[in-house]
Amino acid sequence: MKMKFLVLVLTIGYIHLTHPCSIFAYIGTKLAKAHVLKCLARLEYRGYDSAGFACFDLVTNDIVVLKKPGKIEKLKELALKSPCDGYAAIGHTRWATHGQATELNAHPHTNNDNTFALVHNGIIENHFQLKQQLLQKGYTFKTETDTEVMVHLLDAGIKETGDLKEAALKAVNQLKGACTFVGLHKNFSDTLVVARQRAPLCIGIAEDGMHIASDFLAFADKTNNVFFLPERSIALVKAGAIYSFDYEGNSLPIETKTVNLQPSAYEKLDHEHFMLKEIYEQRTAIERTVSYYNELGDELWPQLGLTKQEARDLASINLFGCGTSWHAARIGQFFFESIANMPTAVHLASEFRYMKFFAPKDSLFIAISQSGETADTLELIRYFKQQHARIATLTNVETSSIVREADGYLLIKAGPEIAVASTKAFSTQLTGLYWLAHRFALERGLIDEVAMRQAEHDLCYVAQVLEQTIEQYEVNIIADAPYYAQFQRLMYLGRHVTYPFALEGALKLKEISYIFAQGYPAGELKHGSIALVDEHTPVILFSHQNQTIYQKLVGNAQEVKARNGHLLVFAFEGQDELIHLADKVYIVPKVAPLLEPLAMTGLMQFFAYQIALVLGRDIDKPRNLAKAVTVE
Ligand code: F6R
Repeated sequence: MKMKFLVLVLTIGYIHLTHPCSIFAYIGTKLAKAHVLKCLARLEYRGYDSAGFACFDLVTNDIVVLKKPGKIEKLKELALKSPCDGYAAIGHTRWATHGQATELNAHPHTNNDNTFALVHNGIIENHFQLKQQLLQKGYTFKTETDTEVMVHLLDAGIKETGDLKEAALKAVNQLKGACTFVGLHKNFSDTLVVARQRAPLCIGIAEDGMHIASDFLAFADKTNNVFFLPERSIALVKAGAIYSFDYEGNSLPIETKTVNLQPSAYEKLDHEHFMLKEIYEQRTAIERTVSYYNELGDELWPQLGLTKQEARDLASINLFGCGTSWHAARIGQFFFESIANMPTAVHLASEFRYMKFFAPKDSLFIAISQSGETADTLELIRYFKQQHARIATLTNVETSSIVREADGYLLIKAGPEIAVASTKAFSTQLTGLYWLAHRFALERGLIDEVAMRQAEHDLCYVAQVLEQTIEQYEVNIIADAPYYAQFQRLMYLGRHVTYPFALEGALKLKEISYIFAQGYPAGELKHGSIALVDEHTPVILFSHQNQTIYQKLVGNAQEVKARNGHLLVFAFEGQDELIHLADKVYIVPKVAPLLEPLAMTGLMQFFAYQIALVLGRDIDKPRNLAKAVTVE
């Protein structure tokens, strides 16, 4: 078989693939164990319930498997004690879906005679039916995982055909769901068999061999020449060659891309946590995003899947996403309505796909997703598409599934976000939405070029404010954090654009500190939730610059104080009445209207970070979470 390399240069500065569970595998000219464990650790943000490794051992000529529940450090300790090593190895970190995070359920999984080991990323939707068929064939199951079904399917195929490619094709054509895997068989020790279905997988082609990973971040210091496996494809990977096929068995070209990623992107450098590093990267990320937009010119519309005329004629915007991205969407709604005069609706992807959908005419649906892999968001895209909606996405990952399925895209230039809690993706999403609302306004004759440039300038100014306020209040927040860390619950309030921002503030605190926090519209307090306000429930209030809204917030602050509530206020300069009511206050310089959330983002995140630090939480990898959620 002849291998053909087509090389494309990818012009974006980074690509970042995310999916819970991670795979790293290597086949080449060097011993694999230390390398696989090192690279796997870089992907641990994607799942950290258990970790495992398997290699074709040079001494015993057998497949040796090592696994441990918990973080990869535990696996490293075990691996140090084991003499096994070889030139072909596979590794995995798991975010448990089927079966608990035990050693038994950790990947790699093996066939009944331990000649074949496999790591899997995804969920096999028809595993129950397949398991019944395999049980009838005499296969026994050791674990509670869906993955074992895949191992036995491949094993059956290999035994039947004696051929890895045929076995892989037979298996993938029966599997439904997300079924990306890498397998290693004792009888084919010079080959790794891989498949990509739904969950991403890429291969770094380097001088010392092939580095296979869920995210190219894992091997970015080795090579920037990357083959992204096409959706629904398999490959046989050898130390010096890749043979790729579609599910019918037809050869596919090996089209590689050159990716440019600074090794510093996946190092904490001198920061204690990735989250802190990423909080401080926000100014640069916003500036980079604005300058990329500024250079886009008229390329914007075709990239978004629109003609200029369609951009002018659109009747409405629909924004959707999950978690932090949904919060950004909710703030974005104010941008599109106030700046571009476009009616805008926002949908929570995990809920809306079960609701009746009355497709509006001439609307643009924008999926917001850092990873571009979130299953709920992807499913809502598919649901909207069935009704012929026009879909674009605002995402951090150009090579993601969401970009592939949408009609158009606009990137945020956040750079790789490693900490599980989203920080710089949120601020660049707000940047993208604010800029895009202005761009629509310009195209529709509502603002002129000068106002457009002013909007870009305002964004860059807010980026400075975001950073400088953290520096200004660093000492205060560090000193205040132990006080807030002692409470069982906190309430976050805001109005207008600062209400969805309060939701984001509460989410940030919850996910990394495990303190219960409720985001709430300040005006709704008196309709019920004020019953919770007492000396045990501090209230955090995000102010607003609009005079009318501000006055209402002052009223809400008074309601809290009248009930002995502790009040922490994020206020704007000159808001003396509110500042005097507060027990503690962080004051932010004035910014352009509607950019209040972006201005307060750094402080809000740093506050949550410091509380989690006081509580000794695992900030970059909070319990029960994974970086992107590809299960519904
Ligand atoms: C919270 C967080 C999540 C994500 C959500 C959507 O800090 O990161 O709430 O925002 O899972 O993920 P994406 O944006 O990748 O679709």
